[in-house]
Amino acid sequence: MIILSIETSCDETAIALLKAEETKSGVDFEILSDQIASQVKIHAPFGGVVPNLAKREHIKNLPILLKRALKEARLPLGSRASKLDAIAVTYGPGLEPALWTGINFARELAKKWRVPLIPVNHLEGHVYSALMQKSKFKIQNEGIFPLLTLIVSGGHTELVLVKNHLNYKILGETLDDAAGEAFDKVARMLKLGYPGGPEISKLAKFGHRMSINFPRPMIHSKDLNFSFSGLKTAVLYKIREMTQTKFRSKKVKADIASSFEEAVVDVLVRKTIKATEQYKPRAIALGGGVAANDKLREELAKKFPNILLPNKRFTGDNAAMIAVAGYYRFAKSKNWKSSKNIKATGNLRLSKR
Ligand code: KG4
Ligand code: ZN
Repeated sequence: MIILSIETSCDETAIALLKAEETKSGVDFEILSDQIASQVKIHAPFGGVVPNLAKREHIKNLPILLKRALKEARLPLGSRASKLDAIAVTYGPGLEPALWTGINFARELAKKWRVPLIPVNHLEGHVYSALMQKSKFKIQNEGIFPLLTLIVSGGHTELVLVKNHLNYKILGETLDDAAGEAFDKVARMLKLGYPGGPEISKLAKFGHRMSINFPRPMIHSKDLNFSFSGLKTAVLYKIREMTQTKFRSKKVKADIASSFEEAVVDVLVRKTIKATEQYKPRAIALGGGVAANDKLREELAKKFPNILLPNKRFTGDNAAMIAVAGYYRFAKSKNWKSSKNIKATGNLRLSKR
């Protein structure tokens, strides 16, 4: 079957076309097209995503990306779909004005082409991204579940136990800031560019990881929850202590970035170890924008040599991962009834469904 997917939860407009073929052992996927229009430059002057600007850009980008995707996949779709089997769309979590643009666009297309519409949880996409290595990939039916996934993005930090396709249990989550959010905020304090995560990790490579002993919030707590707001404040105090001359030095900034990154990675790795001890998963995976962080990938791979790390192409928001999650949702229900009343849900959570 062929699925068209649409992702507009934050500041990336994305459309993908994916072919899925069921085999005895699993599903063979092929990404026919994977289009992304990033809005980074538009939001950068504001130091964060402005919801109404994001909405405006999504509305502008969606028809352009659709045209490009159909062309690349060589799918000339007229008013009646000939080859397309379903449309998957992200309906949460994310910025509601942004989510609505994708939902409304998807709804129109589904109506025009008379194909079913599948609502997808954005976080499910990040879970599947670790299983997507290239344009063609296979997801086996056996051997991966229960799968422990660490999702680290701009809006979320969660340890999720995936018991089977579409069956999730949240084991722990952040009580305040998400890991990516902390990266972005600390980058702003250091007067680096936006988004901050990649900037911090670039600068951190020139610093000493042990130069400042930043706190590791909740690292010894019994549960699997996280907290990054105290760490962010500790960085702020450290900067305030410094004289202007000292703060302007690249070396000093690099030491801060490096020690901060070390503290975040330390907490994420320790909690993942704790979760594996408690839940004994068969496989471990990483997903979300912060999964692009080399230090995090390196340290997790040291502890878990078989960890499933997403291809960097799929760490940030993309529509290909939404198509894969949409495929499982569609395939699982024998008589799929197109969801007429999809509603953008900003605070949508992963659950057992
Ligand atoms: O998954 P994502 O693209 O969007 C959300 O769903 O939130 O994640 C974006 C987050 C941003 O906070 C960004 O700074 C962070 O991922 N990020 C990184 C790196 N690349 C992106 N954080 C740390 N190191 C990186 N290399
Ligand atoms: Zn995301």
